[in-house]
Amino acid sequence: MIESEGEFVSAKVKDERRQRAIRSFVRREGRLTDAQSDALTRLWPRYGLGPMPDSEHVLPLPPMDFTQAFGREAPLSLEIGFGNGERLAKAAAANPGIDYIGAEVHRPGVGRLLQEVEQAGLTNVRVMCADAAEFLRAGAPAARFAEVVLQFPDPWHKTRHHKRRIVQPDFVATVVEALAPGGRFKLATDWAPYAEHMLDVLHAEPRLRNASPDGRFVPRPEDRPLTRFELRGLRLGHDVADLEFIKQA
Ligand SMILES: C[S@@+](CC[C@H](N)C(=O)[O-])C[C@H]1O[C@@H](n2cnc3c(N)ncnc32)[C@H](O)[C@@H]1O
Repeated sequence: MIESEGEFVSAKVKDERRQRAIRSFVRREGRLTDAQSDALTRLWPRYGLGPMPDSEHVLPLPPMDFTQAFGREAPLSLEIGFGNGERLAKAAAANPGIDYIGAEVHRPGVGRLLQEVEQAGLTNVRVMCADAAEFLRAGAPAARFAEVVLQFPDPWHKTRHHKRRIVQPDFVATVVEALAPGGRFKLATDWAPYAEHMLDVLHAEPRLRNASPDGRFVPRPEDRPLTRFELRGLRLGHDVADLEFIKQA
């Protein structure tokens, strides 16, 4: 039955490839401004984690030693899909005792954050231009992050695209693995059906507890700057839902 075993293996491999190919993003890069391009070339060696991003590929990440990257051992925060990095830069400036890692696949946004990090003289920020889901699956240290932040992830409105939503049981399991006991997973969305989907998936993860007293949403964090995406949702009349879940100690 070697032949049928061979068939079975190749079907399994195909299935794994298909799973890997379902990504939460489509890379439509647009043009990098000269300033963003300059920031990437000049500042990546100082603040970048992993390979220097290029326009074609989202590259796999090598194993990383964050204690070495920051030159100290401090609580770590991870932001997934930081966009232009407004929230991350503001939080890093306000909390110098915390080290901030941002993961984003969109190079112009990475360039914008690098510019801001340099201008503000921040020493507690490192950036990866990578698929955060892949990082959590394969490269993230276990039980190391004090918080994981996911704000306004692409909602993938159409039913046939729901499989692309980043919040899925397997993804949440990897977030939980990465969180330290008592660590917090903070999410926001302006798309009500996605907020309900998030609640369903997060409540189904037994290692998480909802921080909301009524078991649903938490108040909007006062220190969150209004980003383009939140503003667009508000202009469209959407309610913004904030969620916060705590990893059981
Ligand atoms: C709708 S935008 C929100 C940006 C930002 N969080 C904000 O609130 O302004 C979603 C971002 O997530 C990024 N993204 C999507 N999937 C990602 C992934 N797997 N890894 C890293 N970034 C991702 C996209 O490139 C995009 O910039």
